[in-house]
Amino acid sequence: MTIRVLHVASELYPLLKTGGLADVTGALPAALVEQGADARLLLPGFGPVVEGLEDLRPVARLERTFGAPDATLELGRLPGGGLPVYLIRADAFYARGGNPYLDAQQVPYGDNAQRFALLGWAAAQLALRIDPDWSPQVVHAHDWHAGLAPAYLRAAARERGLAPGADVARSVFTIHNLAYQGVFPAHQFASLGLPADFFDMSGVEFYGQLSFLKAGLYYADRITTVSPTYAREIQTLAHGGGLEGLLRARAHDLTGILNGVDHAVWNPATDTSIAARYTPTRLTGKLRCKTALQARFQVAQKHDALLFGVVSRLTEQKGLDLLLAVVPEIVSRGGQLVVLGTGDATLEQGFSRVAHAHPESVAIELGFDETLAHAIVAGADVVAVPSRFEPCGLTQLYALAYGALPLVHCVGGLADTVVDASLENLADDLATGFVFERFEPRGMTAAIRRAFALHARHRDWRATQQRAMRSNFGWAASAQQYMALYRELA
Ligand code: ADP
Ligand code: GLC
Repeated sequence: MTIRVLHVASELYPLLKTGGLADVTGALPAALVEQGADARLLLPGFGPVVEGLEDLRPVARLERTFGAPDATLELGRLPGGGLPVYLIRADAFYARGGNPYLDAQQVPYGDNAQRFALLGWAAAQLALRIDPDWSPQVVHAHDWHAGLAPAYLRAAARERGLAPGADVARSVFTIHNLAYQGVFPAHQFASLGLPADFFDMSGVEFYGQLSFLKAGLYYADRITTVSPTYAREIQTLAHGGGLEGLLRARAHDLTGILNGVDHAVWNPATDTSIAARYTPTRLTGKLRCKTALQARFQVAQKHDALLFGVVSRLTEQKGLDLLLAVVPEIVSRGGQLVVLGTGDATLEQGFSRVAHAHPESVAIELGFDETLAHAIVAGADVVAVPSRFEPCGLTQLYALAYGALPLVHCVGGLADTVVDASLENLADDLATGFVFERFEPRGMTAAIRRAFALHARHRDWRATQQRAMRSNFGWAASAQQYMALYRELA
């Protein structure tokens, strides 16, 4: 039986990306199609999405617009005969350029509740057959942006007198990051058109406010998150963001399914955006990538300098303040560090300062640059991801695939995907990177020292690199797990 599933999200690689969410929506639906699903996407009509789709045509006018002058549902395709994608054309809401969530001053748009309510509501309309040619059996909503979709589905079912469980479509809600909750003042609830009793502790109310994330967690039939360890962590006070109680209550409906690597995009054997291609058995290309990277960042051209790379949003989550604190450890041992990122001004300044102090060894580029991200992962010996918390993390998966050994904090998806180069793991042919337990300079320094020590043992380094490159984090296994979940529901 084919399952018709609609993915509802705000980002989609390669059209619009601020982080890993886009990589997931860009790869998972296609992987589901490989497993026999009939998958489509629904996104807000942000400029790059409207421009990037082919064969766009109107499907229906949307009756409710949440304050936008008008809104239309359109259907197009990803270029090259790709997946069908619905978008909501409401230019007053979405054609604002730049970031989907923040204005040019990095302040959230004042009407974000309405902009993303329209997304959730339109998803429910698709389940209610607003497109006579296609409707989903499963609505799969991602992050708070799509959190109201399950709530509108429940409201629609109630209007039709259906019991919970006999909803118009079944729903799955995926947490990519519990730190972003879509919380708005209570008075905005009135503009959403949900039944009044939904504003309740058993509903969308969250400490007197309105939470889109909680709506997703409360009303979805199933909840997933992007790694097994994060699925456990978010049920604790330390990592639950105030939602640990609800998540514990729904523990039986909650699963962790790891993200994967899209090998069509991230594969050193075929990647045309890097200086040279390479494979686990032919690694000379990687050395050329390293030389090119040193040249690009204008650090010293030294083959044997251990080169650390970072590609990251510069936010509290990513733990890069800890890396800043241990830069002297890297430099004094003859290592180098190149950083690509954008975000917090203090972190940007911090890295700029150390780069200025050690121009031969440290360099930073501020900005978001997909091609440079590939160059770093290909050219670096080590990719550092010292996150305070990490739901899954894709950067360390790309690093593994490119033989850049990940150096990570033992949390969330990082803990699930990287095996530390301890003596016993090396002896058992398990090591793929460097893992530190405690989020403190001492822990990270020890991991950095392990990286230098392993690098000095050329054969062990090479074997670890090859093992990392062969570790299997493709999308197929994850897609199978989602399919099993959909089958249970549908
Ligand atoms: P998160 O989604 O929390 O940012 P992930 O590791 O899951 O973390 O995904 C990050 C994605 O964004 C990766 O594809 C990474 O390469 C990309 N990325 C992050 N920062 C940048 C940047 N400054 N330039 C280019 N790509 C970036
Ligand atoms: C979030 C998380 C990241 C995850 C990504 C995709 O942005 O921070 O860990 O990999 O979503 O699921």
